[in-house]
Amino acid sequence: MHKIDTKTWTVDKNVDELHPAIVEAAERLKQGEVIAFPTETVYGLGANALETAAVKKIFAAKGRPSDNPLIVHIASTQQLSLLIDEELSEKSKRLIEEFWPGPLTIIFKRKEGISELVTAGLVTVAVRMPDHPVALSILKAANLPIAAPSANRSGKPSPTTADHVKQDLDGLIDGIVDGGSTGIGIESTVIDMTGIIPTILRPGGITLEQLQQVLGQVTLDPAIQHQQEKPRSPGMKYTHYAPLGEMWIVQGEEHRRIEQMKQLIEKQIKLGKKVGILTIEEHKDYFPLADSIIAYGSKDNLYPMAEQLYQALRTFDIQGVDFILTESVDESGIGLAIMNRLRKAAGHKIIDVDNL
Ligand code: TXA
Ligand code: MG
Repeated sequence: MHKIDTKTWTVDKNVDELHPAIVEAAERLKQGEVIAFPTETVYGLGANALETAAVKKIFAAKGRPSDNPLIVHIASTQQLSLLIDEELSEKSKRLIEEFWPGPLTIIFKRKEGISELVTAGLVTVAVRMPDHPVALSILKAANLPIAAPSANRSGKPSPTTADHVKQDLDGLIDGIVDGGSTGIGIESTVIDMTGIIPTILRPGGITLEQLQQVLGQVTLDPAIQHQQEKPRSPGMKYTHYAPLGEMWIVQGEEHRRIEQMKQLIEKQIKLGKKVGILTIEEHKDYFPLADSIIAYGSKDNLYPMAEQLYQALRTFDIQGVDFILTESVDESGIGLAIMNRLRKAAGHKIIDVDNL
């Protein structure tokens, strides 16, 4: 692909829409360019959602399959009328009140006229209002709905810093607004509100439990926990977050899990492999033979784990680790999203020590 000049603007996390860098980035988006910017979840790669030629550039830069639709980002609920025709349901209104701006993407029936490329030909559109001053300022200054998938090459872990974006997309996109590292670290929750019962298609920053409190009954798309032929969120079927090394999740009773990991480390080292361990703080001293140990989060707080997961996967790649073991976490709260991403990163390779 023809290399382009990728401009970087470094801004304070708390800029507003009058900042010259924000004004310039917004102007370029209006002119049909593709620009990466931070949100509270991960960096997004933005383009004007109403202009097919601009949206095309996102797919080209990411190497993204064209049957995988994009999330449209907005700065105000007024902009919803550009994307959907119908009256909001009571439940959707409650979601918006409770969780926007924030890490929740809502699927609505779409309006005619949005670029077909954004919705990948579906009759629905995914929308979210991000909770990050940089993202919101750009959206306000551009005054356009902005389609923005995560700003990584397709298949790679989502970027949580501007450096990650550069690693993947330097020379392929028009610009990067560097607003420091993102907060939550994994993507937004995607919820489909077009059926009778709200369905989570992708777990993320807003938990199942939080959604149940507001909506009552909520179902989970089975593809979230099991490998499936046909998940309802097109993006769920692709290889994701895959580190270069072979990765396994070890689950089951804690002591047996650790013993199993120690044995596997020894075996892989004998085979000449460089072994990486991704574990919680409490367990980091249990694996002295491993070549690289990344400890993230702890039993009683999984949020730092979400924040550091993608960075950890990228670090193993940079270190040239060729065999990665990680421990499963409890799938309540944010744990559901963490396990979903770990399963994808591991290509669903799981060792269950309780069923050996
Ligand atoms: O946190 C996030 O959501 C980040 C930031 C940048 O906002 N964005 C993000 O976008 O993760 P992306 O493109 O990497 O993931 C969008 C997911 C994909 O799994 C896609 O298939 C799904 O949302 N999606 C988009 N439109 C959809 C639709 N109409 N129906 C079902 N799933 C949809
Ligand atoms: Mg993505």
